[in-house]
Amino acid sequence: MIKKIGVVGCGQMGSGIIQVAAGAGYQVLANEASEVFLDKGLAGIAKRLDKAIEKGKATAEEKAKIMGNIVRTNELEELADCDLVIEAIVEDINAKKEIFQALDKVCKAETILASNTSSIPIGDLGSVTKRRDRFVGLHFFNPVPVMKLVEVVRALDTSENTIQSVKQFAESLGKTTVAAKDTPGFIVNVLLIPYLLDAIRQYERGLASALDIDNAMKLGCGHPMGPLTLTDFIGLDTTLFIADIFFNEFKDDHYAAPPLLRRMVAAGYMGMKSGRGFFDYSKK
Ligand SMILES: NC(=O)c1ccc[n+]([C@@H]2O[C@H](COP(=O)([O-])OP(=O)(O)OC[C@H]3O[C@@H](n4cnc5c(N)ncnc54)[C@H](O)[C@@H]3O)[C@@H](O)[C@H]2O)c1
Repeated sequence: MIKKIGVVGCGQMGSGIIQVAAGAGYQVLANEASEVFLDKGLAGIAKRLDKAIEKGKATAEEKAKIMGNIVRTNELEELADCDLVIEAIVEDINAKKEIFQALDKVCKAETILASNTSSIPIGDLGSVTKRRDRFVGLHFFNPVPVMKLVEVVRALDTSENTIQSVKQFAESLGKTTVAAKDTPGFIVNVLLIPYLLDAIRQYERGLASALDIDNAMKLGCGHPMGPLTLTDFIGLDTTLFIADIFFNEFKDDHYAAPPLLRRMVAAGYMGMKSGRGFFDYSKK
């Protein structure tokens, strides 16, 4: 039975996971590389809850209860008696392996270890622990408090008990789970990224303007966002990083990054976060 949660990494994703788990009544231990980032992550949660209060979607009592369920930690040792620890640090395989090796040593035998990685094989991360049966992928979507999906990723050695426990945990947060094999991109990204790459290729070929490509997919298919705006939102650098991982794994042109994407990233056009991608955000 999962009651006490640890979250390592309190950035965009980690802070969202902490918020929804604390909101569902779990005691959540938040761990970060530095006090400054921990302060920033927790302040972000408080700010999001303040906005929800302003909109009448939450009360001050609910905010106090959620914040009260969150415990700051400086040392991984403090996560020793957690039932589940979710890692959400930077997408760097060596940094993640270091964290899991340390967690494997300090956590009680029953603790399930999970990674929120988007692109690193779960089996590779689990292989540095002595608990491969209690190692799993739990892939949340951004922003975590809003997006309903969690992909539960089974590595070769993940046990059925582990899958069922984390599935129940994710559902208790109000999420819907889908089960995926441990292959790059799981379900959502392996389908989404080639679509985005195709949209960039068509734009590069001169099929239509960026605005018309986006409007076509929004209004013709009922998508909430066009593919080029979505690429700007995800980040052109992140999209290129993922495309290269897929191409490397599958050796299929379907996943090859269009030259335009590579040129734009090299020129510093990263999308919304840099103020310019397929569209200009500098004035917003
Ligand atoms: N951003 C997304 O849309 C998204 C979606 C799904 C999954 N993910 C995955 O979630 C993970 C985190 O992504 P993010 O967007 O939240 O990144 P982020 O950069 O916002 O946050 C990462 C945090 O990890 C902290 N950190 C780094 N090393 C650490 C360590 N050794 N110990 C403790 N904390 C450490 C950093 O200080 C930072 O606050 C990545 O694996 C990413 O692939 C991201």
